[in-house]
Amino acid sequence: MVAIVSDKDQLKTEALDPERVPKHVAIIMDGNGRWAKQRGLPRTEGHRQGKENLRRILEACVEFGVEILTIYAFSTENWERPPAEVNVLMSILELVLDHEVKKLHKNGVQVRHVGKMDGVSPHLQAKIQKAVDYTRNNTRLILNVAFNYGGRDELVQAIRRIVADGIPPEEITDALVSQYMYTAGLPDPDLIIRTSGELRVSNFLIWQGAYSEYYVTPTYWPDFDKEELRKALIEYGQRRRRFGKTDEQIDS
Ligand code: IPE
Ligand code: IPE
Ligand code: MG
Repeated sequence: MVAIVSDKDQLKTEALDPERVPKHVAIIMDGNGRWAKQRGLPRTEGHRQGKENLRRILEACVEFGVEILTIYAFSTENWERPPAEVNVLMSILELVLDHEVKKLHKNGVQVRHVGKMDGVSPHLQAKIQKAVDYTRNNTRLILNVAFNYGGRDELVQAIRRIVADGIPPEEITDALVSQYMYTAGLPDPDLIIRTSGELRVSNFLIWQGAYSEYYVTPTYWPDFDKEELRKALIEYGQRRRRFGKTDEQIDS
C-alpha cells in the first residue's frame, strides 16, 4: 500500500540543522490583500491576519535559533495606497506597539526601527521610540521593523550624512557606508524570504542584501506558517554561498 504523505507531513520529518540556521532572516511580508480577496474579505482583514501571523513567525524564529529578524512592514512607496488602507496599516502598527511590546520584552525581543520617521505622525513616532528604548537591552532576538523604509531613501540619507559629516572621499569604504545605514552595527541578512510569489525586491535592503540568499514562496503572508519557515530555513541550509569565489576555494 502506498501511504499518501502531504507536503507538510514530509516537511515535518526533515530536520533543521542548528549549525546551518541563518543568523539574520529578513521577510517581505507580501500578499495580505490577495489573501483577503481570495476569501471575499476587505484587504484590511488581510493585514489583520498578517499581524497575527507575525506573532507566530516570531515565536518560530526564537525556537529555530534565528538571532535577527527584519520584517518589511511598510515601504516608502506604500504611502501611495488609498488613504483608508494607509490608515489601517498605521493603526495596526499602533495596536502592536500598544499591546505587544510588553510581551515581546518579556520574551527577550529587542525592537528596532529601520526606516525614517519623516511623514509618520508625531504620536506614532513617540510610540515607536518608546518601544525601541524599552526593549533596548534585550538579547534573545533582534526584531528590525522596516517601517516607512525604502532602500533608495536609506542610501540617499546615508550619502547626505556622509557629506554633512565632511568625510573625505578616500575614507568612504564599504564598511563606512554600512555604518550610515539604518541597520548600522548588524550583520547583513543571510536569507531574504518573500511571500506571495513576486520576483522583485521592491526597494528592500538593496545595500544589505547584496549577497543574501533569496527564497520566494507563492504562499500569501497570512498563511506562511512555522512549517513553511522551517522549509525555507532547510533550503537555506542546503545552499552554497560562494561570495564570488569558486567551489574549490570554499572547500579548502
Ligand atoms: C503586504 O501585503 C502588506 C504591505 C505591503 C503593507 P499587500 O497589501 O501588498 O498584499 P497584496 O500584495 O496586495 O496581495
Ligand atoms: C512590499 O510589498 C512592501 C511590504 C511588504 C511592506 P508591496 O506589495 O508594496 O510591493 P509591490 O508594490 O508589489 O512591489
Ligand atoms: Mg503586495
